[in-house]
Amino acid sequence: MEGVFAWWSALALGLFPIVVWLLWWWNEIWFLAPVKASLNGSKIPPGHMGLPFIGEMLNFLWYFKIVKRPDDFIKSRRQRYGEGVGMYRSHLFGSPSIIACSPAINKFILQSSDLFTIKWPSTEIIGANSVVSVNGESHTRIRSFILNAINKPEALKRITLVVQPGITSSLRSWAEKGTIVADDETKKVTFENICNMFVSYKPGPLLNELDKCFRGVVKGVRAQPFNFPGTAYHHALRCRRKLGAVFRAELEKRKQGGDSASVERNDLMDGLMQIKDEEGNQLGDEEVVDNITSLIIAGYESTGMATMWSLYYLSKSPDVLRRLREEHMEISIQKKGAFITMEDIKKMKYTPKVVEETVRMANIAPVIFRRVNKDVDYRGYRIPKDWKVAVWLRHLHTDPNNFEDPFTFNPDRWNEPAKPGTYQVFGGGPRICAGNMLVRIQLSIFLHHLTIGYRWELINPDAKIRYLPHPRPVDGAKMAFHAI
Ligand code: HEM
Repeated sequence: MEGVFAWWSALALGLFPIVVWLLWWWNEIWFLAPVKASLNGSKIPPGHMGLPFIGEMLNFLWYFKIVKRPDDFIKSRRQRYGEGVGMYRSHLFGSPSIIACSPAINKFILQSSDLFTIKWPSTEIIGANSVVSVNGESHTRIRSFILNAINKPEALKRITLVVQPGITSSLRSWAEKGTIVADDETKKVTFENICNMFVSYKPGPLLNELDKCFRGVVKGVRAQPFNFPGTAYHHALRCRRKLGAVFRAELEKRKQGGDSASVERNDLMDGLMQIKDEEGNQLGDEEVVDNITSLIIAGYESTGMATMWSLYYLSKSPDVLRRLREEHMEISIQKKGAFITMEDIKKMKYTPKVVEETVRMANIAPVIFRRVNKDVDYRGYRIPKDWKVAVWLRHLHTDPNNFEDPFTFNPDRWNEPAKPGTYQVFGGGPRICAGNMLVRIQLSIFLHHLTIGYRWELINPDAKIRYLPHPRPVDGAKMAFHAI
């Protein structure tokens, strides 16, 4: 008996290092062997592809979720493999991947939309006709309709006035409550405003139902695409169908000149229904429905989070708040209580710097993804076909080589423009955020009404920050909120 035990022990001890060796090198051999055969003098970016199936996800989760030092994920690679051209190989989110994290390589990838295409979020969820799903000429066409509807001066002028009643009444209600969880409240006011801007829906039972559906969709966007009952993805698809049905019915009603059509609306849905391109063509019904839905998805949480972070950073930066308040008090005296206009926003000097610094520090979109269409060689390094590219935007904004003292909230750094290519909070190239002006304007308006009428204080100023799925204080930025 003892002999058998010793035999098994020896076998196990002998096998153990082999198993460990195999686990460690499996991905490297499996994914790199086919690539190495066609390198033609190029090199594969340095790095390690982690363990079978899970790749380097444990390492990613370690830095983002456990120790909550997300920037050390890239730092550890730079220390191990050097800065090089700012690319590392890895295996993340189920795919062999290249991590891109320098201004130049990020710019190259974001601008080369023919070589690197979007494959996320899934078309099923976001809609086959959404600007986010389509590529090439279709993308240019749909995007131009959207930019006309939300980024042109006329549209922004109208939006500026449409959002202010919602912002001012929300601020009043926060002060009445006395204590708020800023993350929840800023999302709520953003959702109400976005639905008002885009489809003229006012707060009420329909909006509450839509809010639930959008939350379901957003969860599904981040989930693995396993479509069976009980999964977040399955739920998201059901929510997406419901949203499609609501917006389709609204569109039909407008086409028939139904009741709401008699009201003066001029919202984004009207814009998308009416705009013609140079040849006089219009968007089809499904294109309008898919793009309304995806614009709300893209704009809802992102703007809510940026607003929450503005409250957070200002509460920790009394000098910045004082200067901001001075600027807005002056405007307020001139306006004698009237809502501000685009002309007033254009005259603001300090506010745009506060807005830029807020979105830089908030890093709401820390990483964006592309799929490689064919083998690409960049400065002697191969980005292999069908791999995923993780464009690490966050790293650019927290790298002291790009922004001095990057974790200090310092709007004055925007007295000078950022170094070329180092500021990519809204992405870049042909897919640069279509709503970047919209969010800047909404934040400026919010800061105006906030600073002229209210004071606030974080209840847990030292609350830890949670980084997944997006950066947020763990208590949701709970704060005492009062009228001045
Ligand atoms: C602080 C707030 C926001 C941030 C940080 C942000 C960030 C981004 C980023 C990084 C991209 C590029 C994605 C990629 O290339 O894969 C993007 C795209 C996009 N964003 Fe935003 N965004 C914000 C607000 C908004 C708003 C308010 C809207 C509209 C209501 C919007 C609509 C879009 C759309 C439609 C795209 C896709 C553009 C295309 O594919 O051509 N975003 N956003």
